Amino acid sequence: MDASAYAAVLTADEELLDRLLATLAAVGMEPRVVSDPGALRAVWREATAVAVGGDRAEQLVALGLPRRSDVFVVGDDHDSDDLCRWSVPLGAAVAPLPSADTWFATALADAAGLRTGAGRLLAVVGSTGGVGSSTCAAAVAVTAATEGQRTVLVDGDALGGGLDLLVGAEHVDGWRWPHLAGARGHLGDLSGQLPFVDGVDLLAAARRGGRGGAEEIGPEQMAAVLRSTTRSHDLTVVDVPRWLSAVGLETTRRADLTVLVVRADLRGLAAARELAAWLPESSAQVLLRGRRSAAVGPELVEESLGLPVLATVSDEKTVRLGAERGEPPGRSARSSLTRACRQILEQLPRRVGTP
Ligand SMILES: Nc1ncnc2c1ncn2[C@@H]1O[C@H](COP(=O)(O)OP(=O)(O)OP(=O)(O)O)[C@@H](O)[C@H]1O
Ligand SMILES: [Mg+2]
Repeated sequence: MDASAYAAVLTADEELLDRLLATLAAVGMEPRVVSDPGALRAVWREATAVAVGGDRAEQLVALGLPRRSDVFVVGDDHDSDDLCRWSVPLGAAVAPLPSADTWFATALADAAGLRTGAGRLLAVVGSTGGVGSSTCAAAVAVTAATEGQRTVLVDGDALGGGLDLLVGAEHVDGWRWPHLAGARGHLGDLSGQLPFVDGVDLLAAARRGGRGGAEEIGPEQMAAVLRSTTRSHDLTVVDVPRWLSAVGLETTRRADLTVLVVRADLRGLAAARELAAWLPESSAQVLLRGRRSAAVGPELVEESLGLPVLATVSDEKTVRLGAERGEPPGRSARSSLTRACRQILEQLPRRVGTP
């Protein structure tokens, strides 16, 4: 662990403080207890993680600090509903204790850099419905596999109908999300268990025709899967649903790069502004969907979102027809989508020791 890693802790609840200090000691992370929300401002950016007790959450919200990752609202199991209220205003994960003890300890270890393997993590999210984000996620996974990268595509959208359908793998045997509904902490290598199509391992949501599917893909399950796949694979691509649920926040906070797919018109841009506020600024970039001549061009998007546009993808007949035939996107080397996928892959930071 990075020796300078520490967690800023804010709570006036002594029992909770004792519990937090014990968890931090178990993880081997230094605590820095701050006495009031104002004092937290000074360490807000530099702390490795921030743990705020439910008793102080309201005051912290009132400070209006900028968003940062690895913020946790912590409290007693009995207050879990109350804690959840602060998740959205603080962009924080909720850790009711003791039930989330293990998850919380693992999340702190993640934040401190003990977390993942050397594999890179790419999140793809659309700013409006049907903008092509699942298609982009699948295409970038296929493109990476074609380049020889060991790649896994993870469906983060429990209600999206299953990514296996998009890549024509609905009849391929292997684990889907329901197999991992109880996943916590650390999993073994999933490859060999997952459907394999066009060189890509695929973890798809199930079509269950009833309620319950959404509960299978929770933030804990996603964290466990990502911890495993970033060890076993060179690249993990997650299709993140655009209602940035706890799963989406968990994924984008870990991602090396989040690609926000934006429709090149005013409503697409307006929706993207809403979503962009939730994404880590340093690791988000835009893929623009529309004609190059569209009124909303890359410059306007960059100016308005404060995020770089990495490519523009037009409507392509080959992509549409391929989807109708159930063929994985990203196969055609000449398509503008595949070109954009290569550009996305180039944006991913190289890990130390990789060529
Ligand atoms: N570059 C493209 N050219 C032509 N058609 C495309 C392109 N990208 C996606 N499509 C088509 O647009 C439709 C929606 O695509 P997709 O499911 O990837 O969007 P999405 O953003 O994931 O949607 P949702 O909001 O439902 O998750 C599909 O029929 C797909 O084949
Ligand atoms: Mg989708």
